[in-house]
Amino acid sequence: MIRKILTWPDPELKKKSAAVVVINDRIRELARDMAETMYDAPGIGLAAPQLGVHQRVIVIDISGKEEPPDLIVAINPVIVHAEGESYEEEGCLSVIKYAANVRRHASVVVKALTLEGEEKTYRAEELLAVAFQHEIDHLDGILFVDHLSPLKREIFKRKQRRLAEAD
Ligand code: NI
Repeated sequence: MIRKILTWPDPELKKKSAAVVVINDRIRELARDMAETMYDAPGIGLAAPQLGVHQRVIVIDISGKEEPPDLIVAINPVIVHAEGESYEEEGCLSVIKYAANVRRHASVVVKALTLEGEEKTYRAEELLAVAFQHEIDHLDGILFVDHLSPLKREIFKRKQRRLAEAD
């Protein structure tokens, strides 16, 4: 089922998510809905709090339009190693009509549980590394716009206010 994606400045997006204790039917249904909602949007990643569910679950699929789907469902993901620097443009399904370059690590190692409850290690670079960092941030109530300089943040807020007024 496609669920509604919360958008900035919804306070639900600022809350920290809790670790998943048991992978039950509710979590499996959540992961299914998250993937469906992400593909429908379309986007390359989604975190549970974007649907108003404060559980540490993310979904990512960075495969291109011409490639077969390659869905990652990561439960309780943790970055255990990070290195290098990247400064690529990011957008977010929770931030309407805005993109900006964000400083991230160029490569990360992420440990997470699969839907089957098995521990899995992901060695991610480039776009996948950025996606993991972006989605794990969501679990801690952090949006990519929170990484902007104070000046850029002000410009972002002004733009969003103007968009809201135009509605
Ligand atoms: Ni996002």
